[in-house]
Amino acid sequence: MNLTYLGHACFLLETSKAKILFDPFINPNSIVQEIRKSTLDKTLVSKLSVDEIECDYVLISHGHEDHVADAESILQRTGAKVVSNFEIVSWFNEKGISNNHPMNHGGSWEFDFGKIKYVSAVHSSVLPDGTYGGNPGGFIIQADGQTIYYAGDTALSYDMKLIGEEFNLDYAILPIGDNFTMGPKDASKAAKFVGCNNVIAMHYDTFGYIKVDHDKVQQLFSKNGQSVTLMSIGETKEI
Ligand code: NI
Ligand code: MN
Repeated sequence: MNLTYLGHACFLLETSKAKILFDPFINPNSIVQEIRKSTLDKTLVSKLSVDEIECDYVLISHGHEDHVADAESILQRTGAKVVSNFEIVSWFNEKGISNNHPMNHGGSWEFDFGKIKYVSAVHSSVLPDGTYGGNPGGFIIQADGQTIYYAGDTALSYDMKLIGEEFNLDYAILPIGDNFTMGPKDASKAAKFVGCNNVIAMHYDTFGYIKVDHDKVQQLFSKNGQSVTLMSIGETKEI
C-alpha cells in the first residue's frame, strides 16, 4: 500500500482495491499554499491539487474545519463515498452527496477494499456552519493484510488499550501537535496502549499552536523504543 501525506491530518491511502482519503484540509493549509508557490515539481503540485486528487472513499474523523474543508468539492467531483459518523454523513447528504456510509462508535463494516471500524476519540466535533457533528472518532482500516489505526484528533485515552487487545496494528497514525490533541509524550504512550511501534505523525506544524521540534519528537519516541515518521507534505511512503 502507498500512503501519501497531504498535510495536517490529510492522507491518501492507496490499497490494491481503493484510494482512501482522510480528513481533506488542503487549500486552506498555508504550508501547502507555500509549497505550491515555491516548487517547480509538477508532480508534487498535482498531488496537492484538490481539483486533481482521485479517490474512491473519503473518511472524515470529525466535523472541524481543519478536517472537512475540501471534502465537499472532492466528493462532488470524484463521486467518492463519504464515511463518517451519522451526523456528519447526514450533513453531506443534505448537500446532495448521496454516496455515503454512516457509522458510529464501535461499529465495523466490510467495504469492497477491506474493513473499517469507527472508534472513539476524545475531542469535540462541530461542522463549519455550526451543525452538530456527532462525537469525534478515529478509524481502524484493515486492507491488503495490513491494519492501520488513524486516530483522528484525540487526547490520550485508556480506551486505546482495547484497540491493542483487538488488533495487531502495523501502523498507528497519531496526532502529536499538542494543544488541541495529544502532544508527543502522550502520543508515545498511545502507541504503547495500542501496541504499535510504527507511528506516523499528524496534526502538527500547521498553526502556531501546534508547532513541534522534529528532532525532539524523534528522540522521545526512540528513547521509548518506538519509531515515528514525520512525513514531508506530498511524500509517498510504501507501507
Ligand atoms: Ni478537531
Ligand atoms: Mn484538528
